[in-house]
Amino acid sequence: MKRFIEPDELARDSRFIRQSNALTTVLATLPDDVDAVVDVFEKFTPMIRDSVRGTPSQALYDEFGPAFSLALLNEPIRAGARGLKTRLKMRVHAIFVGELQALEGAGRSLWDFPDTPWDFKMNMARQCWDETRHVQIYEKLMDHVGASAGDYPESTFLFECACSDDPAMRVAGVNRGLEGLACDVFRDLIRYAEEIGDETMKQAVDYVLADELTHVRFGSEWVKAFTRDDPEHFKRTQDFRRQVDKQFSFGGSRSDRPDAPIRIAWEDRLEAGFSEEELRELAEISGDGPSPETLIEAARVLRERHLGEREGPKTRAAAAAKAMA
Ligand SMILES: [Fe+2]
Ligand SMILES: [Fe+2]
Repeated sequence: MKRFIEPDELARDSRFIRQSNALTTVLATLPDDVDAVVDVFEKFTPMIRDSVRGTPSQALYDEFGPAFSLALLNEPIRAGARGLKTRLKMRVHAIFVGELQALEGAGRSLWDFPDTPWDFKMNMARQCWDETRHVQIYEKLMDHVGASAGDYPESTFLFECACSDDPAMRVAGVNRGLEGLACDVFRDLIRYAEEIGDETMKQAVDYVLADELTHVRFGSEWVKAFTRDDPEHFKRTQDFRRQVDKQFSFGGSRSDRPDAPIRIAWEDRLEAGFSEEELRELAEISGDGPSPETLIEAARVLRERHLGEREGPKTRAAAAAKAMA
C-alpha cells in the first residue's frame, strides 16, 4: 500500500461531491474588507457552480449565489437564528466529512511512519477506532437534523492542511490543529443542543468531544516525544501548527472574538494539553481575518449580483446599484 497519499486520492463513493479547497485557503488570508471577499468569490464562481450542480446544494446556490456557504455559516448556530435549519444541516454535514478526514489522517499516521514506537501506533489505532465511531454518530446526527451524506460539497481541506511527511509535524497538524478545531466546533454544538433542550444531540456530541480531548493529548505528548533534545525541530512543529491554526480559523469565523460564529473552547483545550500561552497565541492568530459583518455583507452583495444576473440586464443594473449602495 502506498505511503503519503495526496488528498485527491482519498476514496469516496458516488454520493460525495469533491470541491477544491483553493477557496478555503484563500479565505484564510483575506483582510477585513468586503470588496476583497467579493472579488475572491467572483473568481471562484464557476468552480462553486459546477460543484453543486445536480445536488441538494443547488437550491442554495440558486437562492444565495456563489457565497451561499458564507451567507449560511457565518452566524452563530442559535435558536431562532436566520436560516437555522439549513445552517445546522450544513454544519453537521461538514463535521461528518471532517470526521472521515480525521479517520483518514489517523489511519495514515499509523501507516506512513513504520519506524515510530509501538505506543505511537497503538495511540493512532485507538484514534482510528474512535473516529470510525464518530463518523457513525454524525451519520445518525445527520438523520436527526434531516441531512444525508453528499448533500453538500466536500473539501478535503482539513486532511490536506494537517498532513505532513514528518511524524512530529503530522501530529502537530492533525492531533493539535484539526482535533483542536473539533473541540471548538463541538463545544459550540453542545451549547446549542443545551439551548434548545435536544438531549440526543447534546449527549452524542459530548461523547465525541471526550474522545477528541484524548486525541489532542496524543498530539501534545507525541510532538514532545518526537522532538525531544531537538529544539529546532520542536520550533518547526509549533510554526506548522500556527499555520494550520490560521487556515482552520476560516478568516476569523473560529476565533475568540465575541462576534465569532465559533468561539475557542478554552477550558476543553486546556484539559486537552494546550498551554495558556498557546491559547493566547491562537486567539491572536485567528482574530485578524474578516469579521462576521464583513462576510455577511459580502454575501449580501454577491447574492444581489447573482439574482441580478439571473433576472436579466434590467434587474441586473438595479441589483448592482442596490448592492453598491
Ligand atoms: Fe473525531
Ligand atoms: Fe479526533
